[in-house]
Amino acid sequence: MKLAGPRLTAVGSGKGGTGKTFVSLALAQAFADLGERVLVCDADLGLSNTSVQLGLAHAGDLPGLLAGRTPLQNALVHVETQGHATFDLLAAPAGSGTLAEANGGTAEKLVSILRRTASYDRVLIDLGAGIGEMVMTLAAEADDALVVVTPDPASLTDAYAFIKLVLKRTGGRAPALLVNMVSGEAEAKRTAEALTKSARTFLKAAPATIGFVPNDMRVVECLRRQVSLWTAYPRSPALTAIGGLTGVLGGVAPRLAGSLR
Ligand SMILES: Nc1ncnc2c1ncn2[C@@H]1O[C@H](COP(=O)(O)OP(=O)(O)OP(=O)(O)O)[C@@H](O)[C@H]1O
Ligand SMILES: [Mg+2]
Repeated sequence: MKLAGPRLTAVGSGKGGTGKTFVSLALAQAFADLGERVLVCDADLGLSNTSVQLGLAHAGDLPGLLAGRTPLQNALVHVETQGHATFDLLAAPAGSGTLAEANGGTAEKLVSILRRTASYDRVLIDLGAGIGEMVMTLAAEADDALVVVTPDPASLTDAYAFIKLVLKRTGGRAPALLVNMVSGEAEAKRTAEALTKSARTFLKAAPATIGFVPNDMRVVECLRRQVSLWTAYPRSPALTAIGGLTGVLGGVAPRLAGSLR
């Protein structure tokens, strides 16, 4: 029986600053803690900041991998947090500005490299902001896409544009919604409903909502202090909420599930 490659999930939003990077990293840690072999690929090549969010000294060498200079094993870094399972990160050096002009061809090359990484069960692709060629090619080429949306009206309109383009490029496969930075369930429901209503009416699509993550001051506090949220507040509301989403996203034994596709 042919073993399936990793499951590729792209995390996008259209608008910047909705929490794509935080959600990608927190999901990666949650899946790793469940025993999956996880890679986060920070596809925000020009303005990579996953390593900053994790407080890592080195971010890896994604540009070198894409240029064929650096093998995968040397291009990635291991993310090790006390009391948690390890996952890997593939990113461009923070603040490098490299590959800011990356295009659809770069995205296709990256996806083909990621698909051949047999040592992972799951790859989370942290997309950059916007709906440019690189972002949309990655979103369409991945196995599934997640849209991180907040109650901010600008986030809703940008998420709508992102969904519309994913539908167009995939022939109708709607990304799933994750509502971030909400005051509670009521606000999450209002936000998700506003977006799904527009998608149903104008795009004839019904994106599923996988859940919501509360606005949690500890997330920002830890980032500013450059301490690990997973160590300082492992039971914080945001991490607890994201941990609860792994089941909805098909956590546990994805290789088996993938091989039966
Ligand atoms: N649930 C949350 N509660 C509180 N703060 C959050 C939450 N999610 C993300 N943040 C904070 O919001 C800011 C933006 O998050 P993040 O960098 O993950 O967004 P992004 O969508 O990746 O941004 P960009 O488009 O610039 O890549 C960060 O300071 C992050 O710590
Ligand atoms: Mg980001």
